[in-house]
Amino acid sequence: MSFDRTVKIAPSILSADFANFGQEIEAVEAQGADWIHVDVMDGHFVPNLTFGPPMCAAIAKHINTVMDVHLMIAPVDPYIEAFAEAGADVLTAHLEAGAHTHRTLQAIRGAGCKAGLALNPATGLEEVDYLLDMVDLVCVMTVNPGFGGQKFIHSQVEKVRRLREMIGDRPIHIEIDGGITPETAPLMTAAGADVLVAGSAVFKGGSVSDPAPYGENIRAIRAAVAG
Ligand code: DX5
Ligand code: ZN
Repeated sequence: MSFDRTVKIAPSILSADFANFGQEIEAVEAQGADWIHVDVMDGHFVPNLTFGPPMCAAIAKHINTVMDVHLMIAPVDPYIEAFAEAGADVLTAHLEAGAHTHRTLQAIRGAGCKAGLALNPATGLEEVDYLLDMVDLVCVMTVNPGFGGQKFIHSQVEKVRRLREMIGDRPIHIEIDGGITPETAPLMTAAGADVLVAGSAVFKGGSVSDPAPYGENIRAIRAAVAG
């Protein structure tokens, strides 16, 4: 995985057909997805449950781009090795998931993954300062994590702008996650984000038997950020 700051669209399979992840992933990749965003929820850190390492290992075989695993779980550390073995390229943990984020990020890199740090909408940037040399990606949540299809939280535009300044020349991606549409995406790329997670805005209107809408939806986001 080489580093670049061009805009990447990462469909979240939270909005895909859960009975058909393999084909859904192949369909969105064929329709232009840059990364595949995989939302892992534990029913404890967030009020929803999805799946764990065995499902990630199963879908990894269908991902030809980048497997971007967003851990909404606490604790994180006991599961890092399992998600790394399952094929995660980027493994992102929440700052709010525990007291020892520094150790968690070290363990993620130690397991051979790119290390991501996710921030809830209420979390400020102060605690990120001393972690910047240990991360490959910062994920700014633009909804409260747990569900797809929520409304974009506008206060996070300013947070991304400040984060972009803090990052400077470091090779760190800024990812945004939640409520991304052709209307909200340009605000975030202008502020400095380069990885746009989108669930409902990519998967709406399509299916594995009719995947063309996935491509139209991806192109609509790309066109909005290019213009
Ligand atoms: C929310 C997840 C997101 C979610 C985004 O907890 O982290 O990745 O799937 O969904 P949309 O794009 O529908 O807001
Ligand atoms: Zn996510």
